[in-house]
Amino acid sequence: MDILVVGGGGREHAILTALRRSPKVGKLYAAPGNGGISRIAECFPVKATDIDGMVELAKKLSPDYVFVAPDDPLVMGMVDRLNEAGFKTFGPKANAAILEGSKVFSKALMKKYKIPTAEYETFTDAEKAITYIREKNSFPAVIKCDGLALGKGVIIAEDMSQAENAVKSMLLDGKFGKSGSEIVIEEYLTGPELTVLAFTDGKTVKPMVSSMDHKRAYDNDKGLNTGGMGTIAPNPLYTPDKQQECMENIFLPTIKAMQAEGRPFKGCLYFGLMLTPSGVKVIEYNCRFGDPETQVVLPLLETDLAEIIEAIWEERLDGLDVKWSDKSCACVVMASGGYPEKYETGKEISGLDENGQTSADAYVYHAGTKLENGKFLTAGGRVLGVTSTADTLRNALDKAYAAVKTISFDKAHYRTDIGKKAL
Ligand code: AMP
Ligand code: GLY
Repeated sequence: MDILVVGGGGREHAILTALRRSPKVGKLYAAPGNGGISRIAECFPVKATDIDGMVELAKKLSPDYVFVAPDDPLVMGMVDRLNEAGFKTFGPKANAAILEGSKVFSKALMKKYKIPTAEYETFTDAEKAITYIREKNSFPAVIKCDGLALGKGVIIAEDMSQAENAVKSMLLDGKFGKSGSEIVIEEYLTGPELTVLAFTDGKTVKPMVSSMDHKRAYDNDKGLNTGGMGTIAPNPLYTPDKQQECMENIFLPTIKAMQAEGRPFKGCLYFGLMLTPSGVKVIEYNCRFGDPETQVVLPLLETDLAEIIEAIWEERLDGLDVKWSDKSCACVVMASGGYPEKYETGKEISGLDENGQTSADAYVYHAGTKLENGKFLTAGGRVLGVTSTADTLRNALDKAYAAVKTISFDKAHYRTDIGKKAL
């Protein structure tokens, strides 16, 4: 099986690394890929959002499968276009990717099919939205853009003036473009968060091991929200009771709801969950593997990922036994100083060998790097995801942090408390 993976971050490096382990897999291609990815797959400079360009590239390479990993191309319909051109794919079509592409859609789906989530209202008119928040007078107020916004489209407003600013930035000032032309205002929920990724072929759902993301930039959950500064798997909060509750109340109902709506979801469905005092509730759906959740989940996958990709395409996931290791995995993200705001790139990374790896006991997933004249340089906000697997979470974290200390670049920044809450 020759496979083209669309995307160029740590998640894609983790997907390609898992595929590299498969005896079924032949050539691996990535577009656009990155410095580290170029050591295990042939990279092509086609942007992940360039649908025409990707279809052309697929025609040139004739892969057996195209794996579309990031949210934007999925929501834009890259899978539909690749299928029309005769390619087999991994990832949902646009009519199912809407589960992430529109919060107005996903909230309405959950309401219709009684899937537990925060109470909400939707608005396109700023004045009506502000009046609603004022009358509710319940803070914090959660204000969300309908569409994709690079993880920045959710504002938790502590008071009326913050809420007014948020509503105005979305509905009047167009800060989020079309994504913010409709908004969701929802009830503020409390409790620990948990991520569960699940394989699904539209009929069967097979949850992967659970994980815990760390979204804020700094230790103790201080600082701005980021794409994710580190992850651990499994998440100890995901007890057998919770697994059953999620399967019955959330996972199966979601898959069935999408099927009933004529939008079968094929690929990886990301459940962002909160363990509230009144049960597990959905905070968000994503239509893809999470980043950096993938970096700690796929190393624990014992079944051949290429076989899973085939089973999902052929809609026979039901008959496939998907096995997981009972070890723990931890990923510490090394980011550019200043991320998620302004940061510099082009810094030389030291401590990596010619494959972009460390001699310490860890695997280095490259998120934002490029390889120039034999040197790895920083090329993004999140630069590396240093990942270790061990029998216990404590050991996995110790190994990952020991490896982080062997790698450096100017103004590198990482959190020192990844996984602390799970120990
Ligand atoms: P989202 O992009 O929808 O996952 O939201 C980003 C983050 O905002 C989540 O990971 C939560 O920490 C927080 N959040 C979103 N919705 C709510 C809510 N209804 N109540 C409390 N926190 C929320
Ligand atoms: N780590 C969060 C996400 O992938 O959306």
